Amino acid sequence: MTRSNAPAYMPGFGNHFSTEAVAGALPVGRNSPQKTPLGLYAEQLSGTAFTAPRTENRRSWLYRLRPSAQHPAYQPMDGGLVRSGPFDEVPPNPNRMRWNPLPVPEAPTDWVEGLVTYAGNGDADADAGVGIHLYAANRSMTDRVFYSADGELLIVPQQGAHRFVTEFGVLEAQPGHIVLIPRGVRFRVEVDGPSRGYVCENYGAAFRIPDLGPIGANGLANPRDFETPVATFEDVDRPTECIQKYGGQLWTTTFDHSPLDVVAWHGNYAPCRYDTARFNTINTVSFDHPDPSIFTVLTSPSDTPGVANCDFVIFPPRWMVAEDTFRPPWFHRNVMSEFMGLVTGAYDAKADGFAPGGASLHNRMSGHGPDQATYDAAIKAELKPHRIEGTLAFMFETRAPIRVTKWAQTTPLMQLDYDDCWSGFDKGRV
Ligand SMILES: [Fe+2]
Repeated sequence: MTRSNAPAYMPGFGNHFSTEAVAGALPVGRNSPQKTPLGLYAEQLSGTAFTAPRTENRRSWLYRLRPSAQHPAYQPMDGGLVRSGPFDEVPPNPNRMRWNPLPVPEAPTDWVEGLVTYAGNGDADADAGVGIHLYAANRSMTDRVFYSADGELLIVPQQGAHRFVTEFGVLEAQPGHIVLIPRGVRFRVEVDGPSRGYVCENYGAAFRIPDLGPIGANGLANPRDFETPVATFEDVDRPTECIQKYGGQLWTTTFDHSPLDVVAWHGNYAPCRYDTARFNTINTVSFDHPDPSIFTVLTSPSDTPGVANCDFVIFPPRWMVAEDTFRPPWFHRNVMSEFMGLVTGAYDAKADGFAPGGASLHNRMSGHGPDQATYDAAIKAELKPHRIEGTLAFMFETRAPIRVTKWAQTTPLMQLDYDDCWSGFDKGRV
């Protein structure tokens, strides 16, 4: 039995939420009373150390039909193409890389089965770095849930309607949405057909919206637009496989019930979704570009101020009005490393070759920027205000070099001619 199946949401990123699917399920005034209401089991889910400062501290209290501890031992399973840091399958490769879209398989494949690790850096055990995965699926997870003990999951759907049934409630998402699932939170992904997307598995500090500095109190991603599910639970006495990612390995066990059985919860450690159409895009109204950090939706800070373990940056529809300015992304070399994806449309630095569902990697200090066709058009363009429409590109930008997996380096999806898009520029005249 599933209660209150229709997803409902509470707004606000990082707020303290309280929600119950059954009236009276949530204890009042204490977290763990001697007898929990309705005979539920109280459980604290700690996403940060107990003693983390209040501004960083993330935890929720869950009230569930059965204790999470009630399950047999996990056994290692074949993880397919899933990998974790340290990424050392192949030697570090400084080359610029681009991949064609990951095909949706013809064989029945659910979200977990369809996960493919492309790249990453750092080490999950050291709480630093990211794993970068893509997925392509065509069927829902059935009697199966998943969680990562290695990192928080930032999921960017690219194709198909997704329904994330989590311990905390249900999140519906489609291309244009992002979904953030904290480390350790179990969920099932239901799809209604061919489905595809990107995942940043964040081993570091949890994603949050960036400080705004002189921008002021409003702008970029506003906290009210992050939607957290209200409590929903499954009262299902049927074997349910639980797969966890731990230390880069997938492990499996079978519960004799659905572990998505949280009747009520409160706290600030919870999944959420965000519609990128609500991003308040800010850019120049005079000349030149601000750095692309102006498009940061979420940031995972590192121990060094201003240097992110990972930034999630989007390039959404927006007006271009800059005077006397080369408007596409400029040529640059960057100490940070950039993994890009494209949800829909065309990215304004590339005339072709970067397709929705594809990916590109520009590693630490590698020269990149517009291809020749884009460059030639941009320097001749009449600079009227124009709107970039119908596109959504994004970037996982991270402080450490990104190492690809053996699969990503050898797949036929790799465009071996990617360098050619920069090969024909005329020499400057001196
Ligand atoms: Fe770049």
